[in-house]
Amino acid sequence: MAEFGKTLYNTVMEKRFYSYNDIHRTVKILADKVMASPLKPEFMIAIGGGGFIPARILRTYLDIPIFTVNIVLYEGKQTGEKGPQITQWLDKPDELLENRRVLIVDEVDDSGATVAFCKEHLSQHNPSEIGLAVLHRKNKPKKVELPQLVEHYFCGEELGDEWICYPWDALDIDNRN
Ligand code: G4P
Ligand code: MG
Repeated sequence: MAEFGKTLYNTVMEKRFYSYNDIHRTVKILADKVMASPLKPEFMIAIGGGGFIPARILRTYLDIPIFTVNIVLYEGKQTGEKGPQITQWLDKPDELLENRRVLIVDEVDDSGATVAFCKEHLSQHNPSEIGLAVLHRKNKPKKVELPQLVEHYFCGEELGDEWICYPWDALDIDNRN
């Protein structure tokens, strides 16, 4: 199965729908885990687009600033290669990251590829510690095992290899599509 094909995912996988209230409750679980940990993040780096809304709700609990980056999964026209690419990055990454404690935020740990790519790029600017908070972790074979990649790993809920329907993707929230 293609790792990045949302269309293919949608045709063959069970769908699991979440409401905004479900998401908020899961963020609260996540926030409690972060606050109980020794990481004590100084700020968040939200990976757009999926990490934006979780990061904003997390800020309600953690009360730390949010910085944002955008990474898209690029599909090479010539080679057929697929991989993450940065489309927007931090303004002054050395100033921001050096010797700081950072929490990366994304909505889902699926293959791990996008988050791993982001973590590698942030690491180049020598933060003292890196944590990762995801709302959902899918228990499935991974490209990258993120809990082994970062010093602090937090997830709000674990599930199987299902397709998660986030409320922010709904065209008609009442009719779940
Ligand atoms: P990972 O590092 O977070 O595991 O992400 P991976 O590269 O495997 O994910 C590829 C894209 O597929 C990501 O979107 C991810 O959010 C999305 N995705 C994976 N599983 C699900 C799912 O169950 N439901 C939904 N709705 N999306 C899923 P992206 O390219 O980062 O797009 P976006 O963040 O702008 O939405
Ligand atoms: Mg994303």
